[in-house]
Amino acid sequence: MSDIDRLAKHQPAFGVPHVRIDGEAKVTGRVCYASDEPVQDAVHAFLLTSSIARGRVRRIHAEDAFAIDGVLDVLTHENVGSEAKPPEQQAGGATTTTLESDRVWHDGQIIGVIVATSYEIAREAAQRTRIEYDEEPPSATFGSVGAEGERREPGEHEDYRVGDFDAAFAAADCRVEAIYATPTQHHNPIELYTTTCAWRDGTLTTWEPSQFVYGLRGNVAQQLGIEREKVHVISRFVGGAFGGKGNATARTAWIAIAARRVGRPVKLVATRDQSYTVATYRAETRHHIQLGATRDGKLVALRHEGWELTSRPSMYNVSGTETTARMYACPNIETVVNVVHADRNTPGFMRAPPETPYMFALETAFDELAVQLSIDPVELRRRNDTAVDPVTGKPFTSRRLVACLDAGAQRFGWAARNPQPGSMTEGDWLIGWGCASAAYPSNIAASAARVTLRADGRARVDIAAHDIGTGAYTVIALTAAQCLGIEPSHVDVRVGDTDYPPASLAAGSSHTATITHAVACACDALRDRLACAAALTGPLMGRDPQAMKLASGRLAANDVWEPLRDAVVRTGGDTVSAEAEHIPQGLAPEAMDKLRAGKLPIVRGHQREDATAYAFGAHFVEVRVHRLTREIRVPRMVGAFASGTIVNPLTAHSQYMAGMIWGVGAALLEETEIDVRHARYVNDNISEYLIPTNADVDQVDVIMLPDADAQVNPLGVKGLGEIGIVGMNAAISNAVYHATGRRVRELPIRIDDLV
Ligand code: MOS
Repeated sequence: MSDIDRLAKHQPAFGVPHVRIDGEAKVTGRVCYASDEPVQDAVHAFLLTSSIARGRVRRIHAEDAFAIDGVLDVLTHENVGSEAKPPEQQAGGATTTTLESDRVWHDGQIIGVIVATSYEIAREAAQRTRIEYDEEPPSATFGSVGAEGERREPGEHEDYRVGDFDAAFAAADCRVEAIYATPTQHHNPIELYTTTCAWRDGTLTTWEPSQFVYGLRGNVAQQLGIEREKVHVISRFVGGAFGGKGNATARTAWIAIAARRVGRPVKLVATRDQSYTVATYRAETRHHIQLGATRDGKLVALRHEGWELTSRPSMYNVSGTETTARMYACPNIETVVNVVHADRNTPGFMRAPPETPYMFALETAFDELAVQLSIDPVELRRRNDTAVDPVTGKPFTSRRLVACLDAGAQRFGWAARNPQPGSMTEGDWLIGWGCASAAYPSNIAASAARVTLRADGRARVDIAAHDIGTGAYTVIALTAAQCLGIEPSHVDVRVGDTDYPPASLAAGSSHTATITHAVACACDALRDRLACAAALTGPLMGRDPQAMKLASGRLAANDVWEPLRDAVVRTGGDTVSAEAEHIPQGLAPEAMDKLRAGKLPIVRGHQREDATAYAFGAHFVEVRVHRLTREIRVPRMVGAFASGTIVNPLTAHSQYMAGMIWGVGAALLEETEIDVRHARYVNDNISEYLIPTNADVDQVDVIMLPDADAQVNPLGVKGLGEIGIVGMNAAISNAVYHATGRRVRELPIRIDDLV
């Protein structure tokens, strides 16, 4: 029996709350984020960014910068433009911040890099450098003159056509049809976007916060035209990522070129306002939803068409229709996704990239259907539950949506809800109760890991995984502890380094499912080595290695036990190591080569051969809208989730809770404001970008439902990093409707929407 099988059966260390193994080091300031790495003799870079959104750079007065003492170099398209290609990794097309030509694609585009002996000198030089442009009028957003839409070609994402939507919609007893909108949103990680590059003997070392060190390595090598083996990427700790540090952007290669030109390591820490345009963000979206239903609330027709804003050269899109088409039983489905090009930087992942905007549209429309039919919205969702994927007809590996709705409704006290809008009040406050469903595909990727056991009984795991603040260090330690039968405190974990065995992108809620399996396989291989050595000599001599197991820090066969440390010594050294790969079902053996090359071999939950794999959840929320001021408060939220095996309930709870709170931000606060005349972000700083604070959040109740899913993967791990935010924006808009009778279909919902 493999360790994975054993784990799948017992799971004693899984499911027990465990504090983060890196927590103490983090809160005492001992951990080293990328820009904290002590790099000898480093000089400093400051980005020159465009102040126009569309046009060409006519002239950069580099002499202005060189007039300042301490300026070492000024990189522009004129002197280095041909030295790096744009990065390839971003699905759907090029990132736009490049120095490859004089073309300006968006406001805040990198058009130069100033290198100086200090950060202050580099910044000063950047501010003094005059830049002349040939400016053209930009298109900022949907509806702007010159913003061009096109249907995105199926490829990475698919459009669906099931049954005959048009006929079913026309014949339906009851119809909902509306347009929904979500705004531009930006990551505001506490740790800024940074890159430090150093060359030594033709090898580049890059310290950069990353959700995919092998991906970054592959990209930088491709951009610079050098061998992958000549690039070493290190990202031990990440101070917030949320998707923003997932894709390689152009800056890394430019800093590498700067370091090569000046012959010294170069460190860049982009400023907070620059982070709005030199990194990625969540695209603005529009949705046209059409729902047709029978009088008793059976969905008969669903059409979801989405539009996503992107840059001129990119086709980036997230296509959340792949999830909205699977939420409810429906015989006639049609989905379409379009991209709209404007003079903006290329967007990218932001937590629950497809589901956060697309489920807002679907789950709000579903509430409108419930109102029209006079059916309770929980009951309407229950009536449309399905055991099979409505798109493919395949079964779900497990689907506990109704269980989540029921558990959440009960905890919330939903039965006491008067469905009449505006009917529930307390003093001057109108009370609204709203709900929504949540779902997120269970994705899993290929990965490898190395486990080393020392004669003193301590183990170490090396894996190029990423802890973006979610608790991956601890998950890895718990997995090794479980497989080796030792205490989690006896496991050291090293991640975020391309010198370690490759792990995939920490995104798409796939990382825990991915890395636990690789670590379990490595422990399995380690056990085999120990067992073979033990079968040759000592108390376990002559036993069948296959029959030996690891438990409580010992190797055992039947009733004979040997301490692990003795087993290590028997292998002939002070330590014993094993490395193993895990290629999930559905991927070809070449997956590991692809991963090493920086590609992403992943099986998405809706693309499996055998079944559709999703985690499910339900949100219940109370809002209070002041009768006179229309101030909106959210005193109470309940979220119920079923996401397979929970490895660490402590950090899982944090992920769910934080996702729900982020959903409050998405519904009521967050929006990157755009000056449409200049296609420029206005509130480009965390000080002006509104997010929920403690005062905006009161009770957050998280219910973690058991979800034994033996099919999704051997350990039953579905991933839960993103589902917490999915649908919360809709639950709040539905609650606002219930409080006020006002249906707001465009986020964020603000006081002025309700006066
Ligand atoms: Mo997450 S947006 O998949 O990094």
